[in-house]
Amino acid sequence: MYDPGILAIAFINIIAWRVSSTCPIYCLLITKYLNVIESHRMSLQLGDAAPDFHADTTEGRIRFYDWMNGAWAVLFSHPKDFTPVCTTELGEVARLKSRFDRRNVKVIGLSVDPLDAHKRWASDIKETQGYSMNFPLIADDDLRVSTLYGMIHPNADAAETVRAVFVIGADKRIKLMITYPATTGRNFEEILRVIDSLQLTADFDVATPVNWSYGDDVIIIPALSDEQAREQFPAGWDSVRPYIRVIHQPSRGH
Ligand code: BEZ
Repeated sequence: MYDPGILAIAFINIIAWRVSSTCPIYCLLITKYLNVIESHRMSLQLGDAAPDFHADTTEGRIRFYDWMNGAWAVLFSHPKDFTPVCTTELGEVARLKSRFDRRNVKVIGLSVDPLDAHKRWASDIKETQGYSMNFPLIADDDLRVSTLYGMIHPNADAAETVRAVFVIGADKRIKLMITYPATTGRNFEEILRVIDSLQLTADFDVATPVNWSYGDDVIIIPALSDEQAREQFPAGWDSVRPYIRVIHQPSRGH
Protein backbone atom coordinates (compact mmCIF):
# COMPACT_ATOMS: atom_id res chain seq x y z
CA MET A 1 0.00 0.00 0.00
CA TYR A 2 2.81 2.45 0.90
CA ASP A 3 5.53 2.91 -1.68
CA PRO A 4 8.81 1.92 0.08
CA GLY A 5 10.72 4.52 -1.95
CA ILE A 6 8.48 7.33 -0.73
CA LEU A 7 8.66 6.07 2.85
CA ALA A 8 12.47 5.95 2.67
CA ILE A 9 12.68 9.48 1.26
CA ALA A 10 10.22 10.78 3.87
CA PHE A 11 12.26 9.10 6.63
CA ILE A 12 15.56 10.52 5.35
CA ASN A 13 14.01 13.98 4.98
CA ILE A 14 12.78 13.86 8.60
CA ILE A 15 16.23 12.77 9.83
CA ALA A 16 17.87 15.51 7.76
CA TRP A 17 15.45 18.06 9.20
CA ARG A 18 16.03 16.82 12.79
CA VAL A 19 19.79 17.14 12.60
CA SER A 20 19.85 20.22 10.42
CA SER A 21 20.51 22.49 13.39
CA THR A 22 23.95 20.92 13.70
CA CYS A 23 24.82 20.57 10.00
CA PRO A 24 22.44 22.80 8.05
CA ILE A 25 24.22 23.10 4.70
CA TYR A 26 25.24 19.45 4.54
CA CYS A 27 21.71 18.29 5.33
CA LEU A 28 20.13 20.74 2.93
CA LEU A 29 22.36 19.40 0.15
CA ILE A 30 21.52 15.78 0.96
CA THR A 31 17.82 16.57 1.09
CA LYS A 32 17.93 18.38 -2.25
CA TYR A 33 19.87 15.52 -3.83
CA LEU A 34 17.47 12.86 -2.55
CA ASN A 35 14.47 14.87 -3.63
CA VAL A 36 15.86 15.21 -7.15
CA ILE A 37 16.46 11.45 -7.32
CA GLU A 38 12.96 10.79 -6.05
CA SER A 39 11.39 13.18 -8.54
CA HIS A 40 13.05 11.22 -11.36
CA ARG A 41 11.80 7.94 -10.05
CA MET A 42 8.28 9.27 -9.92
CA SER A 43 8.15 11.42 -13.05
CA LEU A 44 4.85 13.07 -13.86
CA GLN A 45 2.83 11.92 -16.83
CA LEU A 46 -0.04 13.29 -18.90
CA GLY A 47 -3.33 12.96 -17.03
CA ASP A 48 -1.66 12.94 -13.60
CA ALA A 49 -2.88 15.40 -10.99
CA ALA A 50 -0.57 18.43 -11.02
CA PRO A 51 1.14 18.53 -7.61
CA ASP A 52 -0.09 21.35 -5.39
CA PHE A 53 2.46 23.49 -3.53
CA HIS A 54 3.00 26.68 -1.55
CA ALA A 55 5.60 29.10 -2.88
CA ASP A 56 6.89 32.64 -2.63
CA THR A 57 6.42 34.56 -5.86
CA THR A 58 6.93 38.10 -7.11
CA GLU A 59 3.20 38.59 -6.45
CA GLY A 60 3.28 37.21 -2.88
CA ARG A 61 3.00 33.79 -1.31
CA ILE A 62 0.60 31.44 -3.08
CA ARG A 63 -0.93 28.02 -2.77
CA PHE A 64 -0.90 26.84 -6.38
CA TYR A 65 -4.42 25.35 -6.51
CA ASP A 66 -5.94 28.45 -4.88
CA TRP A 67 -4.00 30.68 -7.25
CA MET A 68 -5.41 28.73 -10.25
CA ASN A 69 -8.87 29.59 -8.95
CA GLY A 70 -10.68 27.35 -11.44
CA ALA A 71 -8.70 28.49 -14.51
CA TRP A 72 -6.19 26.58 -16.63
CA ALA A 73 -2.51 27.20 -15.88
CA VAL A 74 0.83 27.28 -17.66
CA LEU A 75 3.72 26.62 -15.26
CA PHE A 76 7.10 27.13 -16.93
CA SER A 77 10.63 27.03 -15.57
CA HIS A 78 13.79 29.00 -16.31
CA PRO A 79 17.36 27.88 -15.67
CA LYS A 80 18.43 31.04 -13.87
CA ASP A 81 17.81 34.76 -13.33
CA PHE A 82 19.80 37.31 -15.35
CA THR A 83 20.30 34.97 -18.30
CA PRO A 84 19.70 36.26 -21.81
CA VAL A 85 17.29 33.72 -23.29
CA CYS A 86 15.13 33.65 -20.14
CA THR A 87 14.96 37.44 -20.21
CA THR A 88 13.52 37.38 -23.74
CA GLU A 89 11.05 34.63 -22.81
CA LEU A 90 9.64 36.47 -19.80
CA GLY A 91 9.21 39.64 -21.87
CA GLU A 92 7.37 37.61 -24.53
CA VAL A 93 5.00 35.96 -22.02
CA ALA A 94 4.23 39.43 -20.60
CA ARG A 95 3.44 40.61 -24.14
CA LEU A 96 1.14 37.62 -24.77
CA LYS A 97 -0.57 37.72 -21.36
CA SER A 98 -3.92 39.02 -22.65
CA ARG A 99 -4.09 36.11 -25.12
CA PHE A 100 -3.63 33.63 -22.26
CA ASP A 101 -6.29 35.53 -20.28
CA ARG A 102 -8.76 35.23 -23.16
CA ARG A 103 -8.37 31.45 -22.98
CA ASN A 104 -8.92 31.45 -19.20
CA VAL A 105 -5.28 30.41 -18.71
CA LYS A 106 -3.12 31.82 -15.89
CA VAL A 107 0.65 31.88 -16.43
CA ILE A 108 3.31 31.45 -13.77
CA GLY A 109 7.09 31.24 -14.22
CA LEU A 110 9.68 29.62 -11.97
CA SER A 111 13.37 30.25 -11.52
CA VAL A 112 15.69 28.80 -8.90
CA ASP A 113 16.85 32.18 -7.58
CA PRO A 114 15.53 34.10 -4.55
CA LEU A 115 12.83 36.74 -4.58
CA ASP A 116 15.14 39.76 -4.34
CA ALA A 117 16.98 38.59 -7.48
CA HIS A 118 13.64 38.11 -9.29
CA LYS A 119 12.62 41.65 -8.38
CA ARG A 120 15.89 43.15 -9.65
CA TRP A 121 15.66 41.03 -12.82
CA ALA A 122 12.10 42.30 -13.45
CA SER A 123 13.53 45.82 -14.04
CA ASP A 124 15.93 44.44 -16.66
CA ILE A 125 13.06 42.58 -18.36
CA LYS A 126 11.01 45.75 -18.59
CA GLU A 127 13.94 47.85 -19.83
CA THR A 128 15.29 45.37 -22.39
CA GLN A 129 12.07 43.69 -23.63
CA GLY A 130 9.65 46.60 -23.31
CA TYR A 131 7.08 44.67 -21.25
CA SER A 132 6.63 44.65 -17.48
CA MET A 133 6.20 41.35 -15.71
CA ASN A 134 2.43 40.98 -15.33
CA PHE A 135 2.37 37.45 -13.90
CA PRO A 136 4.08 35.81 -10.90
CA LEU A 137 7.55 34.30 -10.92
CA ILE A 138 8.18 31.62 -8.29
CA ALA A 139 11.35 31.98 -6.19
CA ASP A 140 12.36 28.31 -6.02
CA ASP A 141 15.78 28.72 -4.44
CA ASP A 142 15.32 25.55 -2.37
CA LEU A 143 14.35 23.62 -5.57
CA ARG A 144 11.19 22.37 -3.89
CA VAL A 145 8.74 23.06 -6.72
CA SER A 146 11.19 22.23 -9.49
CA THR A 147 11.88 18.90 -7.80
CA LEU A 148 8.17 18.20 -7.37
CA TYR A 149 7.66 18.71 -11.10
CA GLY A 150 10.87 16.99 -12.24
CA MET A 151 12.24 20.20 -13.76
CA ILE A 152 15.83 19.40 -12.76
CA HIS A 153 17.55 17.10 -15.25
CA PRO A 154 20.91 16.26 -13.69
CA ASN A 155 22.43 15.25 -17.03
CA ALA A 156 21.81 18.80 -18.21
CA ASP A 157 22.55 20.60 -14.95
CA ALA A 158 22.13 19.37 -11.38
CA ALA A 159 21.45 22.81 -9.91
CA GLU A 160 19.32 24.57 -12.52
CA THR A 161 15.99 23.75 -14.12
CA VAL A 162 15.58 22.93 -17.78
CA ARG A 163 12.95 24.89 -19.72
CA ALA A 164 9.91 22.85 -18.73
CA VAL A 165 6.36 23.78 -19.70
CA PHE A 166 3.32 22.27 -18.00
CA VAL A 167 -0.19 23.05 -19.20
CA ILE A 168 -2.65 22.16 -16.45
CA GLY A 169 -6.40 21.98 -17.00
CA ALA A 170 -9.05 23.53 -14.76
CA ASP A 171 -9.50 19.99 -13.43
CA LYS A 172 -5.85 20.21 -12.14
CA ARG A 173 -4.75 17.41 -14.47
CA ILE A 174 -1.60 17.71 -16.57
CA LYS A 175 -2.60 18.19 -20.22
CA LEU A 176 0.79 18.89 -21.79
CA MET A 177 4.47 18.67 -20.86
CA ILE A 178 7.27 19.98 -23.07
CA THR A 179 10.94 20.13 -22.15
CA TYR A 180 13.52 22.32 -23.89
CA PRO A 181 17.21 22.58 -23.14
CA ALA A 182 18.55 25.79 -21.61
CA THR A 183 20.03 26.94 -24.91
CA THR A 184 16.72 26.90 -26.83
CA GLY A 185 14.16 29.59 -26.13
CA ARG A 186 10.52 28.54 -26.35
CA ASN A 187 7.90 29.65 -28.87
CA PHE A 188 4.97 30.77 -26.72
CA GLU A 189 2.76 31.24 -29.80
CA GLU A 190 3.08 27.46 -30.13
CA ILE A 191 2.01 27.03 -26.49
CA LEU A 192 -1.10 29.13 -27.24
CA ARG A 193 -1.77 27.03 -30.34
CA VAL A 194 -1.57 23.81 -28.33
CA ILE A 195 -3.83 25.26 -25.64
CA ASP A 196 -6.43 25.98 -28.36
CA SER A 197 -6.22 22.33 -29.39
CA LEU A 198 -6.36 21.06 -25.79
CA GLN A 199 -9.39 23.17 -24.94
CA LEU A 200 -11.20 22.29 -28.17
CA THR A 201 -10.59 18.56 -27.83
CA ALA A 202 -11.70 18.72 -24.19
CA ASP A 203 -15.10 20.01 -25.36
CA PHE A 204 -15.66 18.01 -28.57
CA ASP A 205 -14.79 14.51 -29.79
CA VAL A 206 -12.30 15.84 -32.33
CA ALA A 207 -8.54 15.85 -32.84
CA THR A 208 -6.48 18.54 -34.55
CA PRO A 209 -4.28 17.63 -37.54
CA VAL A 210 -0.71 18.60 -38.33
CA ASN A 211 0.04 22.34 -38.10
CA TRP A 212 -3.56 23.05 -37.12
CA SER A 213 -4.39 26.46 -35.79
CA TYR A 214 -7.62 27.87 -34.40
CA GLY A 215 -10.36 27.96 -37.08
CA ASP A 216 -8.88 25.24 -39.32
CA ASP A 217 -10.73 22.00 -40.07
CA VAL A 218 -10.48 19.19 -37.51
CA ILE A 219 -10.85 15.41 -37.49
CA ILE A 220 -13.46 13.29 -35.73
CA ILE A 221 -11.68 11.01 -33.26
CA PRO A 222 -11.43 7.35 -34.33
CA ALA A 223 -13.12 6.17 -31.11
CA LEU A 224 -16.42 7.69 -32.27
CA SER A 225 -18.46 5.36 -34.51
CA ASP A 226 -20.13 6.85 -37.61
CA GLU A 227 -23.46 6.53 -35.82
CA GLN A 228 -22.20 8.44 -32.77
CA ALA A 229 -20.48 10.99 -35.02
CA ARG A 230 -23.77 11.64 -36.89
CA GLU A 231 -25.44 12.47 -33.58
CA GLN A 232 -22.73 14.90 -32.58
CA PHE A 233 -22.06 16.36 -36.01
CA PRO A 234 -25.39 16.18 -37.91
CA ALA A 235 -24.04 18.32 -40.78
CA GLY A 236 -21.83 15.33 -41.68
CA TRP A 237 -18.17 15.21 -42.62
CA ASP A 238 -15.80 14.85 -45.53
CA SER A 239 -14.66 11.22 -45.55
CA VAL A 240 -11.12 11.40 -47.00
CA ARG A 241 -10.81 7.79 -45.86
CA PRO A 242 -13.26 5.97 -43.56
CA TYR A 243 -10.83 6.73 -40.74
CA ILE A 244 -10.13 10.36 -41.78
CA ARG A 245 -13.42 12.19 -41.18
CA VAL A 246 -12.89 15.94 -41.58
CA ILE A 247 -15.29 18.63 -40.30
CA HIS A 248 -15.20 22.38 -39.83
CA GLN A 249 -13.99 23.29 -36.40
CA PRO A 250 -16.84 23.36 -33.88
CA SER A 251 -17.02 26.77 -32.28
CA ARG A 252 -15.74 27.56 -28.79
CA GLY A 253 -15.31 31.27 -29.25
CA HIS A 254 -12.66 33.31 -27.46
C1 BEZ B 1 19.68 31.75 -21.02
O1 BEZ B 1 18.58 31.88 -20.51
O2 BEZ B 1 20.13 32.58 -21.79
C2 BEZ B 1 20.53 30.55 -20.74
C3 BEZ B 1 20.44 29.93 -19.50
C4 BEZ B 1 21.24 28.83 -19.24
C5 BEZ B 1 22.11 28.37 -20.22
C6 BEZ B 1 22.15 28.98 -21.47
C7 BEZ B 1 21.36 30.08 -21.72
